[in-house]
Amino acid sequence: MADGVQRVAFITGAARGQGRAHAVRLAAEGIDVVAVDICADIDTIPYALGTRAELEETCALVEKEGRRASLQVADVREFDQLQRAFAAGTAEIGADCADIVIANAGGCAYPSDVDEVRAFKDAVDIMLVGVWNTVKVTTPPLIETGRPGAVVMTSSTAAVRGFTGGWGGLDGYTAAKAGILGLMRVFANLLGPHNIRVNAILPTGVDSGMTRNEAFANWIAGAAEHPVSNLRNVLPGVDVLQPADVADAVAWLVSEQGRYITGVCLPVDAGFCNA
Ligand SMILES: NC(=O)c1ccc[n+]([C@@H]2O[C@H](COP(=O)([O-])OP(=O)(O)OC[C@H]3O[C@@H](n4cnc5c(N)ncnc54)[C@H](O)[C@@H]3O)[C@@H](O)[C@H]2O)c1
Repeated sequence: MADGVQRVAFITGAARGQGRAHAVRLAAEGIDVVAVDICADIDTIPYALGTRAELEETCALVEKEGRRASLQVADVREFDQLQRAFAAGTAEIGADCADIVIANAGGCAYPSDVDEVRAFKDAVDIMLVGVWNTVKVTTPPLIETGRPGAVVMTSSTAAVRGFTGGWGGLDGYTAAKAGILGLMRVFANLLGPHNIRVNAILPTGVDSGMTRNEAFANWIAGAAEHPVSNLRNVLPGVDVLQPADVADAVAWLVSEQGRYITGVCLPVDAGFCNA
């Protein structure tokens, strides 16, 4: 807060993984954080999601950087929950809005015993409806302040490489991540005149709760046996990124250095999309 102006980030899926990394990295840049997570499992996603204890740890890490944090439990699928989390979170840290919005919450419904039709719908609900809800809740108050802002939506290389599919949950994941790119373009045009930039990041595989589980291991082993495309990162020695690697890109994108970047799909992928 070198200029005395408080800056606030509203981050969904902040209990762990990339969301936590964004929170900690932005806190290090002097930004206060409203940290949102569902802190509960979803039955179409066959691995454990973030917990309240993990979300508390994220907030503790933000505070360790000398910034304020507000813990908010909310499901991004539910507009009203997200609106309450936004109001309570910004009030708790003494802010009128969030200048930075990271729509990051997500999960992958790898093949399991559940109904794949439900898994498809859930995936779209979490990662497409959830992103739309996040933008619709957070940006009108920012517009009212007249201050500039930056929104980052977490898509995936899955949106453009067509390798995540063949089962309802996986198809839904890809549909949602591709849909995010359309939403990003629309909101970049709608919010640009208010000096609010909107971009999407497309991470390659990241070492997080989404990939550190048995359901992922089973799926990826099968996908490697029957590759639909060249599934590899180009840069040497990079099997997966760490969440902090993605946070570095996001911190730059939302910073002053990124001030002329909007409407962009940014792969953070060690060359995966281009391979
Ligand atoms: N891990 C990867 O390989 C990878 C690659 C590309 C994109 N992504 C995307 O990155 C984002 C972050 O995932 P991650 O890798 O950090 O995984 P992660 O599982 O560690 O973190 C995701 C967080 O989102 C939360 N969440 C899930 N559904 C929610 C909901 N309905 N409401 C609120 N919170 C919810 C979870 O509780 C969890 O804490 C996701 O959108 C994911 O699809 C991940």
